[in-house]
Amino acid sequence: MKILVLSGPNLNFLGKRETSIYGTKTLDQIGQELTVLGKELGAEVVNDQSNHEGALIDIIQDATKSGINGIVINPGAYGHTSIALRDALLDSTLPFVEIHLSNIHKRESFRHKTYLSDIASGVILGFGPESYMLGLRALVKILS
Ligand code: DQA
Repeated sequence: MKILVLSGPNLNFLGKRETSIYGTKTLDQIGQELTVLGKELGAEVVNDQSNHEGALIDIIQDATKSGINGIVINPGAYGHTSIALRDALLDSTLPFVEIHLSNIHKRESFRHKTYLSDIASGVILGFGPESYMLGLRALVKILS
């Protein structure tokens, strides 16, 4: 089982970006923990990140060709704006879990809606870096 964990814009700055909201763990640390957890769960984890909408879409389009079985995605702000990201995920037909570190419903109203939530297998939010781990566990369950 091969799972893509994809992070969107500004998440490369985790650890130093708005730490009161997102915590002090870096994306690299989270990626390492995901790889270890993946091994425990019998899944190969591929971690990727981009700040660019088109690049994220390219990665999703290539996922099936690369043998990816499902995606855990933190779309960052593009979740609130990008119909193109939604279309790419729909077109991939891969199951995906949308995750957010913060509870977006406790924040500004423009963060309350995402273009992915209604087509995701499930949504996990508000648990900090643990949201990624819970997302991985959930996706492995779905795929097993
Ligand atoms: C986020 C929430 C988004 O609203 C924000 O733009 C992010 C991070 C989260 O993980 O909580 O970049 O996706």
